[in-house]
Amino acid sequence: MHKDCKEILVSGEAITKRCEELGAQISKDYAGKELILVGLLKGSVPFLAELSKHIDIDVYFDYMDVSSYDGVMSGNIAVLTDLTQDVAGKHILIIEDILDTGKTLSTVMDLLKERDAASVEICTMLDKKEGRQVDIQAKYVGFDVPNVFVIGYGLDFNQKYRNLPYVGILKEECYM
Ligand code: XMP
Ligand code: MG
Repeated sequence: MHKDCKEILVSGEAITKRCEELGAQISKDYAGKELILVGLLKGSVPFLAELSKHIDIDVYFDYMDVSSYDGVMSGNIAVLTDLTQDVAGKHILIIEDILDTGKTLSTVMDLLKERDAASVEICTMLDKKEGRQVDIQAKYVGFDVPNVFVIGYGLDFNQKYRNLPYVGILKEECYM
């Protein structure tokens, strides 16, 4: 375990197993539909990579960077990188590392709905329900997590720890 990590919350093996279940459900729900997986950069990349291996219908990948998350506080949001395709009439599944206040994802959902996507839903690896400030729900949730700052499997603290092969709790002394 990394020295800055207090505890492992979700192991890499548990994430893989959950991705098998989610992938099977997504494959069933979107059978016969044109599905675009929209990964939110940068945190969703490891989860998107694992999840997509367990989806057995044809899917397309695209990415958006809407994060202006800085440190441990969720705040301002801006579109830094946009999609590379027209999504009108297409089904979109936004892939995210963690749903916390919900501000990021509600902004992204509004934006994509304005572009006349056939549907826009969310698949989040982690759901920190206690953090919610905006009324928004993910259609697919990997794991519920308590209101603690988590790192690893894409999740960062000041851009660090994204490569950890598990989700862990960051030691308080690392951000205090
Ligand atoms: P909101 O609050 O808009 O935030 O739902 C979603 C984004 O905030 C980041 N975030 C975290 N990042 N550990 C992290 O490494 C956390 O505990 C955490 N909580 C929120 C994350 O980038 C997510 O996309
Ligand atoms: Mg993020």
